[in-house]
Amino acid sequence: IDPSHICISSGVTAVLDLFFFATCDPGDGCLIPAPYFPAFDNDMNIRNEVAPLPVQPKDTHTYIPTVAEMDAAVDEAAKRNVRARVLLITNPGNPLGTLYPEATLKLLLWAVRREMHVLSDEIYANSKFGYVAQNAVEEKLLSPEMVAEFVHTAYGMSKDFGMNGFRVGCLHTKNGDLLNLWQNMGMFAAVSNDTQHALAVMLQDDTFVDFYVEENKRRLKNSYNLLTSAFTSVKLNYMPACAAMFCWLDLRSLLTECTFEAERALWKEILEDCKVLLTPGEACHYAEPGFFRVCYASMPPEHLQVACTRLTSFVEKKRRKRKLSSA
Ligand SMILES: Cc1ncc(COP(=O)(O)O)c(C=O)c1O
Repeated sequence: IDPSHICISSGVTAVLDLFFFATCDPGDGCLIPAPYFPAFDNDMNIRNEVAPLPVQPKDTHTYIPTVAEMDAAVDEAAKRNVRARVLLITNPGNPLGTLYPEATLKLLLWAVRREMHVLSDEIYANSKFGYVAQNAVEEKLLSPEMVAEFVHTAYGMSKDFGMNGFRVGCLHTKNGDLLNLWQNMGMFAAVSNDTQHALAVMLQDDTFVDFYVEENKRRLKNSYNLLTSAFTSVKLNYMPACAAMFCWLDLRSLLTECTFEAERALWKEILEDCKVLLTPGEACHYAEPGFFRVCYASMPPEHLQVACTRLTSFVEKKRRKRKLSSA
């Protein structure tokens, strides 16, 4: 990687804000496969007035939209006079905790051929704890000119290194206009020299970084296994994850009806009964009620075990109640 292709900003949030400022006009739209990280709405909308265009994939084994679904989302937006200018993907994903397989690269090709910018948010890139196939999008499918103009990557220190408070993120791009823009406007969300120096010292310590990244993966995997064993013990379905710190849990069987109102009621019940705070699928713009994002990395395994025990008891209690009332 050529360091001159890296633009530093105070977190990926700031990277996204400036990226949307640079690539879109107010009223333009950004395609995002759903479910997606809830804060993306604010990141593109609050200052730049870019509309999120969630794409709902029918394939719930992979949650990867087809080209036809992407086309339909573009057409739907066009009916409202919204032009899709960007495709935003998160890889590894939040809230799914999965990685896009190589087959998905055709989506990127689809976007670039339409002269859409593709931004891949890879803030969890070093938190991959399962099997990961390599996918070299740039070299295989696109010409170097197309990559330079349209394909960009975001990374940050908040997740893999748990350094959210340091506010450091970056954009990798070979697009000359974007690089120039960052030279000027990047100052509004710059990172202090002290912080950059401290991070440079840390990142140059290969022994520490290698140890840290491996240990982080090991702990994530342990916590993920603990969590998913609990789900399996009460026959709850979840999307198998291999990265990041999330698990996408299917609680449709506990809904009183298939509505977002019922999803909100269940979310509140779990919060009050178990003192466990999940993210409802509605907040991640997922179209079908009953799914929840479980974030399992902010606590030690002993606390996670307590949360799991409460959740599984809650599920069993709900099922018993349902059986009684239908008897
Ligand atoms: C996918 C994704 N992108 C960006 C962010 C925000 O990152 P930062 O703290 O660098 O602004 C988050 C935080 O949760 C995230 O999950």
